[in-house]
Amino acid sequence: MSIDESLNDARISLSIMTFIPVHLNTLRPDQIISFDIHVKVDNRHVVYRHRDEKIEGEKIKAMLAKQIKKVFITESDEENYLSYLDAGLGDLAKTDVAVADKANLAKDTLSTHAANIERNLETEKAYNRSTDQLAKVIDFFATENKALKHVLANAGLATDNTEHSSNVASYALGLATLAGIKKPETLLELGIAALVHDLGSTKLGLDPLLPREKMKGDTLKRYLGHTTEGAAVLSGKPFITSRILALVADHEELGEGRGYPEKKNIANLSRSSQILNLCNAFDKYCMVSKQPVFTALDEFIGKNGEFFPTDLLTLLVTVVTAK
Ligand SMILES: [Fe+2]
Ligand SMILES: [Fe+2]
Repeated sequence: MSIDESLNDARISLSIMTFIPVHLNTLRPDQIISFDIHVKVDNRHVVYRHRDEKIEGEKIKAMLAKQIKKVFITESDEENYLSYLDAGLGDLAKTDVAVADKANLAKDTLSTHAANIERNLETEKAYNRSTDQLAKVIDFFATENKALKHVLANAGLATDNTEHSSNVASYALGLATLAGIKKPETLLELGIAALVHDLGSTKLGLDPLLPREKMKGDTLKRYLGHTTEGAAVLSGKPFITSRILALVADHEELGEGRGYPEKKNIANLSRSSQILNLCNAFDKYCMVSKQPVFTALDEFIGKNGEFFPTDLLTLLVTVVTAK
């Protein structure tokens, strides 16, 4: 049956439930699911696969080929999905799973977390679940030195803050482990900071694809306030540490006082901050210029290289250009 036929065959249309986005690469091909999967058709969520059915690998590939990156579950199925995801993340530690497949799973796990991070910071149970899953992703980056290469090779161009945040989180974790950061707590804080770094931009309703040069008046003012806004929104959350707040507040600081809001010298910031700021600026450059990482890199470095530590740029170039 084709996707369209399956969609036409969808039996239930739900309009009052709360839906949560989950990313396709977190679904295991040809395995039974323990939750209903919905897709969006004409702004309505319809059931695509029922619990106790399987989602075929070919269907997943076909959806990805059509640029459908995520499907939806109901909030009441979230626990079932998270248990399923827990089991799937075991693949990240397996030696008989291809690195490219593991990289897709790691990246899409980060995408699912990027989409749900605010809720996951609300309760201890949700937070612990998130950090357990992030720890497995971090272990993958820490033990597989080609992880970042594969993530970069498969990273699509971000079109919104959620995709941008999961790109930045995966690049930052990959680069940090290659740069020698080993402490799990430091990597976890960097990962969380990357997932939430542009929350202020989302709250202020900014268009993430609008280049700064085209902003003026109130839009520019809001843009220049988005790091402060993000830190303010996060400061009341129970699991946000002072180091995560600092990473978010400083994520647009560049070079010797060439960023904002405080015109700090990036050389004086923590290593995690330097990595986050580089990964953020690079993904933003790709996103706004609509260029994939491989074609954007030279241009990005030509225009922005002076704003970042040379050793981190060298590491990024080495990874992007490695065969
Ligand atoms: Fe930002
Ligand atoms: Fe950003």
